[in-house]
Amino acid sequence: MIVTDGFTGNVALKTGEGTAGLVRDFLRDAFSKTLLSKVAALMAKASLGRFARRIDPRRVNGGVFLGLNGTVVKSHGSADATGISSAIKLAYTLAQSNFTDRLAARVALAPGHAETQRGRAVTRRSAIRGVGHYLPENIVSNAKLAETVDTSDEWIKGRTGIERRHFAAEGQTTSDLAVRAAQAALDDAGLKVDDIDAIVLATSTADLTFPSAATMVQAALGMTKGFAFDLQAVCAGFIYALNMSDALILSGKASRILVIGAETFSRIMDWEDRTTCVLFGDGAGAVVLEAVEGAGTSDDRGILSTDLHSDGQFKDILYVDGGVSTGTSGYLRMQGKEVFRHAIEKLAQTAHTALDRAGLSADDVDWIVPHQANLRIISGTAKKMGVPMERVVVTVQDHGNTSAASIPLALSVAKADGKLKTGDLIVIEAIGGGLAWGSAVLRW
Ligand SMILES: CC(C)(COP(=O)(O)OP(=O)(O)OC[C@H]1O[C@@H](n2cnc3c(N)ncnc32)[C@H](O)[C@@H]1OP(=O)(O)O)[C@@H](O)C(=O)NCCC(=O)NCCS
Repeated sequence: MIVTDGFTGNVALKTGEGTAGLVRDFLRDAFSKTLLSKVAALMAKASLGRFARRIDPRRVNGGVFLGLNGTVVKSHGSADATGISSAIKLAYTLAQSNFTDRLAARVALAPGHAETQRGRAVTRRSAIRGVGHYLPENIVSNAKLAETVDTSDEWIKGRTGIERRHFAAEGQTTSDLAVRAAQAALDDAGLKVDDIDAIVLATSTADLTFPSAATMVQAALGMTKGFAFDLQAVCAGFIYALNMSDALILSGKASRILVIGAETFSRIMDWEDRTTCVLFGDGAGAVVLEAVEGAGTSDDRGILSTDLHSDGQFKDILYVDGGVSTGTSGYLRMQGKEVFRHAIEKLAQTAHTALDRAGLSADDVDWIVPHQANLRIISGTAKKMGVPMERVVVTVQDHGNTSAASIPLALSVAKADGKLKTGDLIVIEAIGGGLAWGSAVLRW
C-alpha cells in the first residue's frame, strides 16, 4: 500500500491512468493497421483481453481515505458503472476485514508518534507499574565479617559506606531470590503471572550454565506462555535489561515484561581477598514494565530515554577468573582504584547524555537511583552531575553491592519508604565489568 497526501496521490493516479490509456490506444492502433496485424490480434485475443482488463483503471477505482473513524472510499468523478462497482467492492472488502481497526492497531504499535482514530497524538512508552524485592534472611554486619576476614567496620564504612549485606542461605540460588522479587513486583502491580508476556533476568550468577535462571523463574511462577531469558552485563545488567525490555515494548513484541535483577555474588567471592569480599552482597529486585500511551513529551510517564555503552579493552580491571570454558567457576577480581577512576566520569557522562536525549537537565531530576557499589562513587557522580545528595537514593549501607540487583532493589526500597511519587523524574545509572555502563531517564 502506498500512503500519500491528496495532491501527490492524484498525480500518481493520473500518471498511472494516462500510461495505461496510452498503452491501450497504442496496441489498438498497432493491431488494426494491416490485415496481418488484425489476424495476429485475433490469435492473441485471449491474452490481449486479459492485458486490457489488467490495465483498466476502472477496475482499481476508489481511493481509501485514511485517518477517519471508519472506511471511506472516494470514487473517480467520471467513473462509469464498472468503476463504481470496483469502488463498492473495495469498500466492502475493507469493511469486512476491519481494515481501519487493524491499521490503527499497527500504527499504535509502531515506535514514535502516530495519530489515533481520535486524532490525538500518541507515543508508546514503557512505564514501571510495579516494583518489588527480596533479600536473603542472613544479614552480615561489617563487625561479623571482621571475625573471619582481616578487615574492620571502620575501613569498610569509611571507604565504601557499606555497613551490612545479606548472604543467600546454603542451597538458595539466584532464581530463588528472583522468584520472590518477581512475585512482590507482580503483587505491587496488582497483576497475575498470566498478564506477563516475557521475563528478562539480568544476572552474572545464574543457578546453572543452562537453562537460564529466567526460565526457572518462569516455571516457579507458573507462567506457561511468553518467553524468558537471562541477560548478562554484570553491574550494568539491570540498565541493559530495562533498555532491551523497553525496546521489546516499543516494537510491539511484548506489552508487559517482568524485568529482574538477581545475584548471589557471595558464591564468587574469594574470602582470602579482603579488597573484594567485603564489598558485595546477595539480593534481587524486579519491576513490571508495561506499555502505556504518552503524548511524546518529557512529561510522559515511563522511560523517556536510555544510553548504553561498553568497552571491552577494560575487561581486565573487573572480572571473574573462571567460567564454563575454563573448567572452573572462578572468583571475582578487581583493580578497585581503576574501576573507581572510570566510574564517576562515565556515570556522570551517561546520565547527562540520557537527560539531553529526553530534553531535560539535572535541575529537572527528582531522584537519582544509582547502582549501589560504593558511597564515594555515588556521591562523586551526583556532585559531578550537580544534584544534591538529598535527591539520591542510597541503600548501599544495607545491601552492599548486589550487582544487577542493586537498582531495582533501591527502587523498591525507595518506593516502600514513600520517596517516589507519581510524576517524579528519575535517573538510573550503573557501571560494571566489561566495562559496561549506561543510564535511563524515566518518569515514575
Ligand atoms: C575497593 C576500594 C574501596 C578500595 O579503596 P582504595 O582506597 O582504592 O584502597 P586500596 O586498594 O588503595 O587499599 C588501601 C589499603 O587498604 C587495605 N585494604 C584493602 N582492603 C581492605 C579491607 N577490606 N580492610 C582493611 N584494609 C583493606 C589495602 O591493603 C591497602 O593497605 P596498604 O596501604 O597497607 O597497602 C576502592 O578502590 C573502590 O571503591 N573501588 C571501586 C570498587 C567498586 O565499586 N567496584 C564495583 C563497581 S561495579
